[in-house]
Amino acid sequence: MRHDLDPLFAPFSCGSLALKNRFVMSPMTRNFSPDGVPGPQVAEYYARRAHMGLVITEGVGPDHPAALGDGTTGGPALPVMVGEAALAGWKAVVDAVHAAGGKIAPQLWHMGPIRLGGTGLHPQAPSVSPSGIWGPFDKTILPPDYLASVKAPGTPASDAEIADIIAGFARSAGFAHELGFDAIALHGAHGYLLDSFLWAETNHRTDQWGGDLLRRTRLAREVVRAVRQAIPADKPIIYRFSQWKLQDYGAKLAETPEELGVITGALADAGVDIFDVSTRHFDAPAFAGSDMGLAGWVRKLTGKPVMTVGGIGFDKDLQSSFMEPTLPVDNLAEVVRRFAADEFDLVAIGRAALMDADWIGKVRRGEPFKPFDMSAYGRLD
Ligand SMILES: Cc1cc2nc3c(=O)[nH]c(=O)nc-3n(C[C@H](O)[C@H](O)[C@H](O)COP(=O)(O)O)c2cc1C
Repeated sequence: MRHDLDPLFAPFSCGSLALKNRFVMSPMTRNFSPDGVPGPQVAEYYARRAHMGLVITEGVGPDHPAALGDGTTGGPALPVMVGEAALAGWKAVVDAVHAAGGKIAPQLWHMGPIRLGGTGLHPQAPSVSPSGIWGPFDKTILPPDYLASVKAPGTPASDAEIADIIAGFARSAGFAHELGFDAIALHGAHGYLLDSFLWAETNHRTDQWGGDLLRRTRLAREVVRAVRQAIPADKPIIYRFSQWKLQDYGAKLAETPEELGVITGALADAGVDIFDVSTRHFDAPAFAGSDMGLAGWVRKLTGKPVMTVGGIGFDKDLQSSFMEPTLPVDNLAEVVRRFAADEFDLVAIGRAALMDADWIGKVRRGEPFKPFDMSAYGRLD
């Protein structure tokens, strides 16, 4: 047993959520739910990871026809949180994780401008975006065939569409609560719908859904408020936030700590309980003049619990993994150092948890980790 890691195995609680350790399975899209319905093998996959403090599921479509479709990680078998069959599937997932002693939150995910029109369970539904644009095309490394399909400008979302989306998030959060999920996670990052309203490159609106930084948080705030109304006051809302976008890995919503405070303060006031701060490198300094990572800044600015993520257990970040072989490294001493410095409360693990259902066991026992292997995308083991 490695005692240097004991702090990461201490319990954590927030509202009604009580976790046995600080490790969280980071949300990871899987394409194993035909017709939007997660089957028994999905339940087993998550239950195998129930020894992590919290499992956050893959992105799951809220009740809106244009939530999901093909995209950069999307595909034909993404799950949804609506309809009898999908909800029954999710009930089995929740029960399996609980039976294995774990806690689980669904990540509600609206792809917004990233979704390819004409795809998904409702191909006729037009993709939704704040200003009918995907984003800048000169800063992305996404494949040319995907980019060609999203290039044509669309129509900016109408007030009625926006109201439908907010209501859809709330309905699906309510369904998830009824099924016994322990918290609700919202995907507010990476250039998808909520993030595309936050980002000036994709939100050119001058109405109540656009404008300055604070005004651009309005859709996210309204979604958080509506979800809060749909679930008990003590069930945590986890909000994933990122500077980087699929449209531009170097993008920055907040150039300064003050700007970061405007965004995250507004979200915290709206009802976010825990921030999932998505970075490519958990230990990258967020702003000049300090070595503190982005999660640390969000914690300092909001006083809310935060989760860090990015590159834990590997020598390369996720994006580099697509191009180069990725080797395991034990960088947990740096995780513990930053944890002890109060930078974050929770530690999310993506690829390492995908590769190895027993990664936490290996951490505890001090055993070597597995290298990353892209074929893990095609398996549900
Ligand atoms: C296969 C795969 C699918 C992913 N899908 C999602 C997703 O649905 N939602 C999300 O917020 N992030 C998604 N991510 C990003 C991860 O949650 C995580 O932030 C990223 O992999 C960095 O963590 P890591 O360095 O530990 O892998 C995905 C990552 C992988 C590897």
